[in-house]
Amino acid sequence: MLTRRQFVAGAAGIAAGAALAGAGAQAGYTRKLGAAAEPGAGKTVAVRLSAAERPTALPCFGGRTLPLWTFADGEWPPLIRLNLGDRLEATLESRLPRPEEITSIHWHGIRLPNNQDGVPYLVQPPVRPGEVFRYSFVPPDTGTFFFHTHCNTVEQLGRGLLGVLIVDGDTTEPYDADVVLVMRDWRVDLDAGKFTPFFTLRGAGRAGTFGSVRSVNGAVNPEIRLPAAGDCRLRLINGDTTRIMQIGIEGAEAAIIAIDGIAISPVPLTSWSMGPAMRIDVVLRAPQGTRIARLVDRSTPQRVELARFAGDGEPRRRSRFSPAPLRAGRIPEPDLKTATRLRFSFHASDEDDRLVAAPDDGSNGPLGEICRSSRTFWTINDRAWPERDHSRLPPPLAVLQRGRSYIFQLKNSSKFSHPIHIHGHTFKLLRSNKQNRPVHHTDTLLLLPEEQAEVAFVADNPGDWMFHCHIIEHQETGMMGYLRVV
Ligand code: C2O
Ligand code: CU
Repeated sequence: MLTRRQFVAGAAGIAAGAALAGAGAQAGYTRKLGAAAEPGAGKTVAVRLSAAERPTALPCFGGRTLPLWTFADGEWPPLIRLNLGDRLEATLESRLPRPEEITSIHWHGIRLPNNQDGVPYLVQPPVRPGEVFRYSFVPPDTGTFFFHTHCNTVEQLGRGLLGVLIVDGDTTEPYDADVVLVMRDWRVDLDAGKFTPFFTLRGAGRAGTFGSVRSVNGAVNPEIRLPAAGDCRLRLINGDTTRIMQIGIEGAEAAIIAIDGIAISPVPLTSWSMGPAMRIDVVLRAPQGTRIARLVDRSTPQRVELARFAGDGEPRRRSRFSPAPLRAGRIPEPDLKTATRLRFSFHASDEDDRLVAAPDDGSNGPLGEICRSSRTFWTINDRAWPERDHSRLPPPLAVLQRGRSYIFQLKNSSKFSHPIHIHGHTFKLLRSNKQNRPVHHTDTLLLLPEEQAEVAFVADNPGDWMFHCHIIEHQETGMMGYLRVV
């Protein structure tokens, strides 16, 4: 039975996403962010990523082997780790099994030079099977990032083409553990040992097509062993194409210390909405003895257990929980007084059209159908991306002056949530009319139905930058555009 307090906390979490502002002080987290990290001299880290079909028996497939598409042999997903100041040299080779399949790598959340951003046609040639593309850049920010392909993403990401990118150098003191948790669904029929459709018309016109198997690091509700009573850093990544999760921790104290890679003053983790591509870094005081703590998703009436934490060894810490903060981020501060305001409105394309296109009877449209029909379900400022891929470029949604500050007024005029992602820049969230969150930086802002929010940033990175919903079926049916910084 829920006590009244738990019930109130749970209800508030669901209604408001997370009622967190000022909560840090209440929890007695008094420690200030460290000074921003300075990049080191920097070494070069070279990796080879070869996109290919690799039959893989992830633990969550219950003994079945599925034809995953992955970037590397060995553990899924691959992890690249750098120190701030290091250069990443990544060679992408495509060995994907279909001659017409094109690919690339987008380094999500990294403020890198435009020609390294990995959007085919817009900033680089598409990589066809047998071809190679070399990326080389120095990430300017520390934190938890990830990478994925940027064409036919619903299938390529759906089959497993993603990896984790961590840039170290942000800690003020060591944590007792550092664990990456990639949360996602798999669209599979395990009895048949097959993938189910990654794209459905019904899903594309609504909240997306959900998978049948939930997983963390490729396992169903895995048990993760941590040093008992240690302050352990968890890097949570929503690696799904569709699912918005309402993340909570049960049975342990936990605090959010970074959002989308960038530090915030620690706040208690009560409940946090995470759309696709969103990340949070959490410090959890690990349980001791026979106790278990749980990572849960409360987005459905029956909350889902995603992972369990157990403590090993002698208790590490006895002090009251007050997690060590990270070093401050390095995102340039927008000048709100002189900022130019631009409005972006996110819509369903045409209500009648959408209902015709997306029958509510569970029937699935094959992927080919949407290409042929070039039907769009979603728009930004009444404009839809003209094709599922990037091969016919429309004009930019807006042209921004390099070095100027901008305030984007984002308005969700639809009945569905949209995690809105900008490439090459990081937003500062200023305000929202629906969710009460601390001021923070983000590269992917979740807009609830009918929500209006304001974000600000300095347009300091020249080039053409995608701006789109990260529910991939929405992105691929119109809710995508780009910004040109000149
Ligand atoms: Cu992670 Cu354009 O996206
Ligand atoms: Cu969307």
